[in-house]
Amino acid sequence: MKQQLVDKFMEIYGEGDGIKVYFAPGRVNLIGEHTDYNGGHVFPCAITIGTYAAARKRTDDKIRCYSLNYPEKGMLKTSLGDLAYRREDEWGNYPKSVISTFMQKGCRISCGLDLLYYGDIPKGLGFASSASMEIVTGLILKDMMGLTDLNMVDIALFGQLADNEYMGTGSGILDLFTISMGKKDHAILLDTSNLSYIYTPLNLPHEKIIITNSGKPRLAVHERHQERRSQCEEALKELQTVVSIRDLCELTAEAFAQVQEVIKNPVLVRRVRHVVTENQRTAEAANVLGRGDLQRFGKLMNASHLSLKEDYEVSCRELDILVEEAWKVDGVLGSRMMGAGFGGCTVSIVKNGAVSEFIQKVGENYEKRTGIKAEFYVVETGDGAKIL
Ligand code: GLA
Repeated sequence: MKQQLVDKFMEIYGEGDGIKVYFAPGRVNLIGEHTDYNGGHVFPCAITIGTYAAARKRTDDKIRCYSLNYPEKGMLKTSLGDLAYRREDEWGNYPKSVISTFMQKGCRISCGLDLLYYGDIPKGLGFASSASMEIVTGLILKDMMGLTDLNMVDIALFGQLADNEYMGTGSGILDLFTISMGKKDHAILLDTSNLSYIYTPLNLPHEKIIITNSGKPRLAVHERHQERRSQCEEALKELQTVVSIRDLCELTAEAFAQVQEVIKNPVLVRRVRHVVTENQRTAEAANVLGRGDLQRFGKLMNASHLSLKEDYEVSCRELDILVEEAWKVDGVLGSRMMGAGFGGCTVSIVKNGAVSEFIQKVGENYEKRTGIKAEFYVVETGDGAKIL
């Protein structure tokens, strides 16, 4: 991949030295959904597919970006002085968002860059492909501009700023942190209230992690994510009148049950119930995985799905059917919707010997019940962003 990208780079931008190649993965979240903007735990891992980028410094202040995934869009040409968001720049806004954020944060970007991207990560399914492009761009800036005082957590935080302030999404730190900090054969138990984290070995010699694409587009996912976020903020304000907490996840499920009547709207009560129980499930999941208890881990994933479906209401008919069909297959340890919801993917842990049956039965029954063909990806854990 590295040499292919360098060859392509020279074809597009011309021969010469100084070309370097970088990679940032996609991510899978094993458990801990919609907790990352409530100061809770998440338990994701980086995967081997992601975004490759080749880059070279320029002698002027121009920025040029080209994506092998969107050749029809041609080359985006701009400069360090002209990085404002433009709808028509489409994917090109992601690299611009990161460069602009670095400059706003006072990083010295001393010259322009030629950038070439290629992603082998499916877009729009919930693998965090856009966050992967942001982090690979952040790593390029850190490396090429000699920003040695920045570490990979800083890059994740800059990526989140780029996402929230420039792109206008309300995403939490889950995707950006995992992509920056992932480690092969490990999941990360991240406490989003203070960014402390622990790597937990995720060696699954007898199981596979399978992502199933429901084929249901994630319509208005940012708006709906934002709505959930606002509901959590509203509930937090009401709870703060009786308990001294900064985030919802400071409450255990038991402590919440004792004060929940302060929240008058039953919808908000359910939202918080999901958040606090999911936070506990996530901490427990990391713990039982550490002990090798995959059976219990799977049960916690299943409980996570029900809570996302019933209390947080971010699942949809298609995701529910995928999960129901997965639960019917022997050798499936756990299965749940993954990511923001409202369409997209499920994540399942399946015993090696049951993988073909899983793909066949879930695929067949899902198509029968929905008329949609599901897609299956067997993913492997990989490292966080790196120079190749
Ligand atoms: C999206 C966001 C993440 C997180 C998940 C839900 O993927 O980008 O920050 O909130 O939804 O867990």
